Amino acid sequence: MFTPSGRRGKVPVGSSVLNAARMLGVDLDSVCGGRGICGRCQVTPTMGDFPKHGIVSSAENVSGFTDVEERYRDRKGLADDRRLGCMALLEADLVVDVPAESQVHRQVVRKDVNLGSVDVDPVVRLHLVEIDPPSLDDPAGDAERLLRALATQWNLTNVEVDRDVLADLQRDARAEGWSVTVAVRDDSMVCAVWPGYHEQVLGVAIDVGSTTVAGHLADLRSGAVLASAGRMNPQIRFGEDLMSRVSYVMMNPSGAEELTTVIRRALDELIGELVHAAAAERRDILEVTLVGNPIMHHLFLGWDPRPLGEAPFALVTDRALSLPTSDLDLDVHPAGRAYVLPCIAGHVGADTAGAILADRPHLRPGVQLLVDVGTNAEIVLGDGDRLLAASSPTGPAFEGAQISSGQRAAPGAIERVRIDPVTLEPRIRVIGSEAWSDDPGFESVAADLGVNGICGSGIIEAVAELFLAGVIDRDGVVAGAAADRTNRVVADGRTFSYRLWDGIHITQNDIRAIQLAKAALYAGVRLLMDHLGVDEVDGIRLAGAFGSHIDVKYAMTLGLIPDCDLGEVSSAGNAAGSGALIALLSGASRREVEEVVRKIEKIETATEPRFQEHFVEAMAIPHRSAPYARLRTIVDIPEPSTTTTSQRRRRTRRTNQEAE
Ligand code: FES
Repeated sequence: MFTPSGRRGKVPVGSSVLNAARMLGVDLDSVCGGRGICGRCQVTPTMGDFPKHGIVSSAENVSGFTDVEERYRDRKGLADDRRLGCMALLEADLVVDVPAESQVHRQVVRKDVNLGSVDVDPVVRLHLVEIDPPSLDDPAGDAERLLRALATQWNLTNVEVDRDVLADLQRDARAEGWSVTVAVRDDSMVCAVWPGYHEQVLGVAIDVGSTTVAGHLADLRSGAVLASAGRMNPQIRFGEDLMSRVSYVMMNPSGAEELTTVIRRALDELIGELVHAAAAERRDILEVTLVGNPIMHHLFLGWDPRPLGEAPFALVTDRALSLPTSDLDLDVHPAGRAYVLPCIAGHVGADTAGAILADRPHLRPGVQLLVDVGTNAEIVLGDGDRLLAASSPTGPAFEGAQISSGQRAAPGAIERVRIDPVTLEPRIRVIGSEAWSDDPGFESVAADLGVNGICGSGIIEAVAELFLAGVIDRDGVVAGAAADRTNRVVADGRTFSYRLWDGIHITQNDIRAIQLAKAALYAGVRLLMDHLGVDEVDGIRLAGAFGSHIDVKYAMTLGLIPDCDLGEVSSAGNAAGSGALIALLSGASRREVEEVVRKIEKIETATEPRFQEHFVEAMAIPHRSAPYARLRTIVDIPEPSTTTTSQRRRRTRRTNQEAE
């Protein structure tokens, strides 16, 4: 019997635990095929009386520790209670524990990369094979004898040998007495060969963002992430946001090529950094997975992004792709392949497909909203039956751009803001320190870090707190009357601004930019809710760097997201990158994401008249007509002041013009 799976059954006396596992269908790993080399088959025989199963499991029921195990223990270490499953022979009933790391389809859970739990099931696996030496009696070629060995030793039939492997096979098979390790892709293609026993096969998952490029190096066998790293996307020098990069391509004949070259170089350098950090070898990397928004996706693939810059925003393809890594100029194993997750629509890319794979809104109960906020907000809404996706043009305000003192989320940037509703005095916190500005020692922190701007989450909190403190009204107008209560509200041309910190003001234009961005996001969400036929959502997940740092209470107070129980609103972390990692570790997840993406209903916000109506309503804080009843139970939302009808008409007219 085997625990913890509880599988039990009868096998012939004298069977090895590894063979018994195979006979009973128990998941027990092996690369060396039972030769005591790989150590993947480790098990723990468990002694004792198991009346429930009618078994007394004792030490005499298993054969003694062998010389092969001694050698393995001396070489690699073996815990006292462990045996190599291929060496331990069953003499009688035995209870055997198969530890998670000895299971082929083990589950890995990594909180730091928001992986959830993944059944590791990579598309490439290693197998140690003993090939029959050639003889005059056996005229078959090296490749044919290899395939024969794979069939008999690993039960792998219908396998082919990649053409590029043939030359290596001739040399490598002879180098270690006809013992080779082969990498088999999709159980159907021998794609790489090493002489003797080869231990490691690696993969890299990369999220190609327009601002940053982030990757994880993973052991494909265990699912362990060996290193993670990120770097700026070097395309930034051609344009801060996506559309300016498309404009660069439009205006320069070799623009697309330049952008492709720099991003591919960055990907390759990132791989170099990951390999260095893990003291690994580039040539052990056989798989790379990639996600990115449609423009990044087209650029790293070497495709013209210009059609994505204008209606009807046509993709070259929305299918997932598998191509040789050499096509992307990535220096890994020559047999390496890159898997690019599918795009969803011209504005909704493989990064959103990755986020869906990581967050699985289609499998969660109730109406679920997944939002990835960047220069565009990618929005996915589902109810278990249907899944809809759209992109909303939020612009770069949430990333600190278009804000007078805005900056990227970097050390020293203001990220938390509180405003006393009575004195209207602010308290702030900056990235890089846990101290609030009224805590002792903050001044030296501020001096060290230099407080010169406010990042996206900071501006959200500042505007929401100004609203809650009554400094701005629900139309977002800074009330001049507040100047009577504090010298922080100061005249600024024909409007007023709020002095948050030395040299850092929240201006009327800043508030307007945030209103426009949040109204675009909300309108996109509301449009999908219309299409799904719902007025409420049960859960909201915020993905991406901005979504991870934002305080959801303030996001809802401003009306970025619809009303929802705050306990059901959470961050999905870098869901796109996690999705790339899941696709790296699990072939089944690739099929899952391809199937889910195929069924997604795509909604085009630009051509829907109701988007405009929702946008206008959503300019108010939190919203002109949506009640936000659940939010009101925990946040004291100021009631609207008595604005005259003509004032309201003027504002609505202005909002309409801005929206256009
Ligand atoms: Fe490799 Fe047992 S199967 S050591």
